[in-house]
Amino acid sequence: MAMNDSLDTDSDFPIAVDADTKFPCKAWERLLVKTKYEYIPPKDRLDSDTPVSADCVRVVCISDTHSKIEVQDPKTIPYGDILLHAGDFTMKGEPNAVHKFNTFLGQLPHKHKIVIAGNHEISFDDNIMSKDHLDPMFGSMNKYVNEMSDLEVKSVKDLLTNCIYLEDSMVSLYGINIYGSPWQPAFGGWGFCLPRGEALLEKWKHIPTNTDILMTHGPPVGYGDVVKGGNHVGCVELLNVVQKVVKPKYHVFGHIHEGYGVSTDGCTTFINASTCTTRYRPSNPAVVLDFPLPSGHSKEEDPIIIHTKVPQDLTAGRKKKMSSAKSRVNSALYPGNNKCNV
Ligand SMILES: [Fe+2]
Repeated sequence: MAMNDSLDTDSDFPIAVDADTKFPCKAWERLLVKTKYEYIPPKDRLDSDTPVSADCVRVVCISDTHSKIEVQDPKTIPYGDILLHAGDFTMKGEPNAVHKFNTFLGQLPHKHKIVIAGNHEISFDDNIMSKDHLDPMFGSMNKYVNEMSDLEVKSVKDLLTNCIYLEDSMVSLYGINIYGSPWQPAFGGWGFCLPRGEALLEKWKHIPTNTDILMTHGPPVGYGDVVKGGNHVGCVELLNVVQKVVKPKYHVFGHIHEGYGVSTDGCTTFINASTCTTRYRPSNPAVVLDFPLPSGHSKEEDPIIIHTKVPQDLTAGRKKKMSSAKSRVNSALYPGNNKCNV
């Protein structure tokens, strides 16, 4: 079956749980034999001061800001047509912190701002929104309830009025399909955590195959996922789905602060956009990329289409759209390489 057809059933899906899913270091050692890994140093990345051409959409990637950027001058974030934030914009998803983050977003000039939650946005995870969970996290449930009451919202997600919030859903801007998902391998009592293996694979099965830019909070195994001590902690199933099924042009994530940086497998450019360091200092610069404007689209248009499931009406062919122009990031590094060869 063609990869652009629906893969929304177990029998259709070509990826099974990896035998080493619980051992990401071991899995990566085996996977690396058949895949390519190349780190892209800062000097080879697109400089944010480079003027953007009319046939490209400038995308600015940040993540893991943890309530640290709201006091900064908004001009510290490079200008672009689209701003992506890959989660952990707060420390615990406190309503007041979400409100401050949203106010900061409102000061940014980017035309479109796309945000997903991370494990720190505990209050965004509907599955753990209970008194038992929130009491120890917030000191008391009352503090959370009082902040919500003062802000006059029923859901903390309603506070994000200055961006498009994605949660296992997609937005299409300028013909570029962007899918966002907050999940990652479980640890502690944080939000959007699932066991490695089948539970996470179930989430990744819903990533549409026509995704151009994938946003997840956690990294895939092997790319931007090494923690202090040298271990890989990324999700094995996420990498398998990205490389063998979805093959997006870009995969933007955060979560592992020490994994900040850009790498590639020759098909997908992996961007760990963590703004904060492991000491929660917001010193890592935003990663900037220029995405070729798909044919038939204009930067003057303003269409927004949000899907919650695998879309059937946007399967016009990602590779066809990409053929009109080359990514400025990739064309500089891999001349003539616009094909997926993984
Ligand atoms: Fe974080």
